[in-house]
Amino acid sequence: MNHITRTPVPLSPAQLLSDTRRPQHTPAGLVGDTPLLWIGEPFTAAGRGFWTKLEGHNPGGIKDRTALHMVRAARERGQLLPGARIVESTSGTLGLGLALAGAAYGHPVTVVTDPGMEPLMTGLLTAYGAAVELVDTPHPTGGWQEARRHRVEELLAIHSDAWCPDQYNNPDNVAAYAPLAHELVAQLGRIDTLVVSVGTGGHSAGIASVLRTYFPELRVVGVDTTGSTIFGQPAGPRLMRGLGSSIYPRNVAYDLFDEVHWVAAPEAVWAARTLARHHYATGGWSVGAVALVARWAARTLPAEHRIVTVFPDGPQRYVGTVFDDSYCRTHGLLGHLPADDPDEIDHPSEKIVSRWTRCTRIIDPLTNTATGVQQLTIAGVAR
Ligand SMILES: Cc1ncc(COP(=O)(O)O)c(C=O)c1O
Repeated sequence: MNHITRTPVPLSPAQLLSDTRRPQHTPAGLVGDTPLLWIGEPFTAAGRGFWTKLEGHNPGGIKDRTALHMVRAARERGQLLPGARIVESTSGTLGLGLALAGAAYGHPVTVVTDPGMEPLMTGLLTAYGAAVELVDTPHPTGGWQEARRHRVEELLAIHSDAWCPDQYNNPDNVAAYAPLAHELVAQLGRIDTLVVSVGTGGHSAGIASVLRTYFPELRVVGVDTTGSTIFGQPAGPRLMRGLGSSIYPRNVAYDLFDEVHWVAAPEAVWAARTLARHHYATGGWSVGAVALVARWAARTLPAEHRIVTVFPDGPQRYVGTVFDDSYCRTHGLLGHLPADDPDEIDHPSEKIVSRWTRCTRIIDPLTNTATGVQQLTIAGVAR
């Protein structure tokens, strides 16, 4: 038998490069332009699914975008002097971003955190040259976040030229996400619903505000954790990190949200683990929580409705928690198959929620003084 051997014509370097990311001279150039992945069956119902932006493909995670943008802007304004120290409170992801920004722009970095931060994160931050400051006692009312903020203030007093990005209130944390929104528009063309986790409020505000200019009918679904104060529930114990808060970050753009879902830790664990097993792409608490809500949206909205969600980071940080059987057993997180649908409440003050719950009434607890949070406190049930 005669075989015809064809010699392949080599593609020109220009053609090859058009499908490849360009070589970078600095690690900051590796941030952004992240991939988008379809999540369908078996995680979702047959014929349904959603798109997810994999921000874990940034060197440190989603907050690389924030850190670089905040540092760049502060330097341009003269708020951050050349070589001055950066001091910030973070549960981890922003710390990695700041370590990257510090390396890119030549600033030492101090990260203030609490005992909930995973050993892997402490190890990574230290390896990247950041100083890690651990607070050991939660603030009586503001929890760990408030305790961390106090320590940041002490450090700013010690280092006279130090600068704190204040990710909770700095508008540059929001502005940092315009490129992510533009990437989504370029990647998908049309978006009907955005499902996003909320911590400082930065990425939800930054992405949703830009997407609304392209798609005025865009539905924005916020995802928070039970025990978080952001959307008007009283502060409670929180196992999940990244999303949620025990304070009231001013970067949360309340007017952009159509609804909020509070998700409990066992439900997020189920979703993160199921995604890992069947779709490889997964993450931790916030990924599990947004995936659970996006899965529900994919089943309940019309099939042609295009749903997008953001996975802020990957699974590595959570091998000792979300993906660790003994940790999960200790915290009673295993064996809870989430309900198909969330509970519904009409107002955030209606009751303290302890499982997946949805509310289409969005209130800003700081400006809406007549919220039921106060009533709950008076009734003695708030923690
Ligand atoms: C893993 C993870 N998910 C979600 C969030 C919430 O994002 P944002 O602060 O932009 O609201 C954070 C914030 O730190 C995070 O680290």
